[in-house]
Amino acid sequence: MSRIRQAVPEDGKALTRLARETYVAAFGHSFTPADLAAHLERHLSTSNVDGWIARDTVLLAEAEDRLVGFVQFGPAGPAMELRRLYVLAGCQGCGIGSRLLRAALAHPDMAGADRIVLDVWERNHGARRLYERYGFQVVGRRSFAVASGAASDDDLIMQRLACQNSDLAQ
Ligand SMILES: CC(C)(COP(=O)(O)OP(=O)(O)OC[C@H]1O[C@@H](n2cnc3c(N)ncnc32)[C@H](O)[C@@H]1OP(=O)(O)O)[C@@H](O)C(=O)NCCC(=O)NCCS
Repeated sequence: MSRIRQAVPEDGKALTRLARETYVAAFGHSFTPADLAAHLERHLSTSNVDGWIARDTVLLAEAEDRLVGFVQFGPAGPAMELRRLYVLAGCQGCGIGSRLLRAALAHPDMAGADRIVLDVWERNHGARRLYERYGFQVVGRRSFAVASGAASDDDLIMQRLACQNSDLAQ
């Protein structure tokens, strides 16, 4: 059984390891090794992750004192943005991602938001299904550039409006 708690600065190193491991497991195959290394260096360094904890809200799922998943959210202009949601590959499919998403949506900053936005890779059908179940709808797309400039698929932009919050999966 996992528990969910808010990340504190002391979690920076362990969260960096988790963020890198889950990102590589989920998306590593879609990069060249050089692009993947550049992406990890640019977006998933310890100083990046320390910044998430300082500026955003990060909720951690912990099982037997080990981090198994996290969700990160924060402001994006007048909206709130769900920036990341990841669960260790070996722990997926057991409800941890749904619990993290529900905990994020119940957080006062998110529950009080008129609009919540997120980006999801268009071919990530599992995550799209999960977000749709919690009231997110596709409203746009943007291209996702890798360091070498190689073409890749688009990200979809999904949003959830406060007026869509009723009748959602529990
Ligand atoms: C998306 C993710 C956080 C869901 O966490 P989880 O603990 O597996 O989710 P739950 O067990 O609560 O719910 C399962 C739902 O998640 C989605 N899902 C399951 N496995 C998935 C996978 N490998 N990748 C993406 N989504 C997945 C499905 O919608 C699934 O529902 P379904 O079984 O009815 O189709 C997790 O699978 C993950 O970390 N995936 C890789 C990273 C990722 O895609 N993050 C989202 C980036 S925008």
